[in-house]
Amino acid sequence: MTVRQKIFTYMGLLVLIIVITHSLTNQIYINFLFDQFRKAEINEAYLIAAPGEQIEIMKTYIMDKMKLIGIVKGVFIVAIGEFFSLWISGVLTLPLRKLVVAIERVAQGDLEVKVPVQTRDEYGKVIQTFNEMTLRLREAEDARRRLVADVAHELRTPLSIMQLKLENAQQDGNDISPETLLRLHDEVIRLSLLVEDLHVLSLAEAGRLSLDRQPLDLTARLEQIVEDVQHEAEECGLEVQLSSRTSPVMVLADVRRITQVFINLLTNAIRYTPSGGTISVIIEDQVVVSGAVFASVSIADTGIGIPAEDLAHLFDRFYRVEEARSRHSGGTGLGLSITHHFVKAHGGFIRVASKPGIGTTFSVYLPTNGNDFS
Ligand SMILES: Nc1ncnc2c1ncn2[C@@H]1O[C@H](COP(=O)(O)OP(=O)(O)OP(=O)(O)O)[C@@H](O)[C@H]1O
Ligand SMILES: [Mg+2]
Repeated sequence: MTVRQKIFTYMGLLVLIIVITHSLTNQIYINFLFDQFRKAEINEAYLIAAPGEQIEIMKTYIMDKMKLIGIVKGVFIVAIGEFFSLWISGVLTLPLRKLVVAIERVAQGDLEVKVPVQTRDEYGKVIQTFNEMTLRLREAEDARRRLVADVAHELRTPLSIMQLKLENAQQDGNDISPETLLRLHDEVIRLSLLVEDLHVLSLAEAGRLSLDRQPLDLTARLEQIVEDVQHEAEECGLEVQLSSRTSPVMVLADVRRITQVFINLLTNAIRYTPSGGTISVIIEDQVVVSGAVFASVSIADTGIGIPAEDLAHLFDRFYRVEEARSRHSGGTGLGLSITHHFVKAHGGFIRVASKPGIGTTFSVYLPTNGNDFS
């Protein structure tokens, strides 16, 4: 029942109680008056009076008595009304009072607060929304804490390497060797890339990533990207194959961001596939998913694969599978998070299928609905 319906029902009940009490007491009291009238000494005066006067005598007697009972009844009805209103307002505002206490706790920084949902009315809905809101706040707070811890951790490594190199050079008293300078330079580049990645990611997460969307032929773009990574793949003893069922495959996309998406996925495939493996890039047009039309690009490798329990966290910021963490070649764990947000900003999505020891396939879906390339 909604709060409005509850008030309507309770008020109806109150009026009913008052009306029934009123008519019952009236009936009982009038019977009682007539009995009294019969017994009272007024009887004599009444009997000797003329019929017209008799009515007047009875009327005066009853009216006098009714005045008194009217006052008593009025006081009684007001008392019932007051009691009933106090009870109704108490019942109806109880969830609200609990909510106010909880809101005050949130205002003091306690995000663990949860109010039990006991009614299915508007208050129940407000409390449910409040609980969801505090849950989101808790998640955001956790994410913020994790981000600060992760950033601090990621910055610490290159900074301590640089500090150590510089301290050693200072202690030796010699000029800094070209190798040390090169190493320091590498760490500075790593730091700049990390800061740049974090900046782009925070923009994308806030939905403030600016996209310069232009008609783009995915086939032509991927041919170029594959050519660019070919050398690195060959050095790792990997073969990269590209196949497109139709050509061209047109989408409306920001070429710079989309290129980074495929570079990230291909770099991962190269990084996490042992020598002798194959990486296949398959482009498809007109793929229908849930009634919408997409162009899809799948990047399948024959690499180390990803355990099922890690798949759900793969696109989280700084997430790396345990094996990748221990590998020297691992990155920072921002690549897939950036990739996911870039694709999402284009109205698309990514799917991943993987079997440890067999390989991984990432499929990027970009919408082609309503694209007008004329
Ligand atoms: N093709 C793949 N095969 C196996 N594991 C993968 C593959 N792609 C990603 N992963 C796993 O997912 C993790 C997250 O990937 P992501 O690209 O976000 O980070 P990264 O490659 O470690 O670092 P970055 O891309 O920031 O340099 C990786 O550390 C790795 O464990
Ligand atoms: Mg990566």
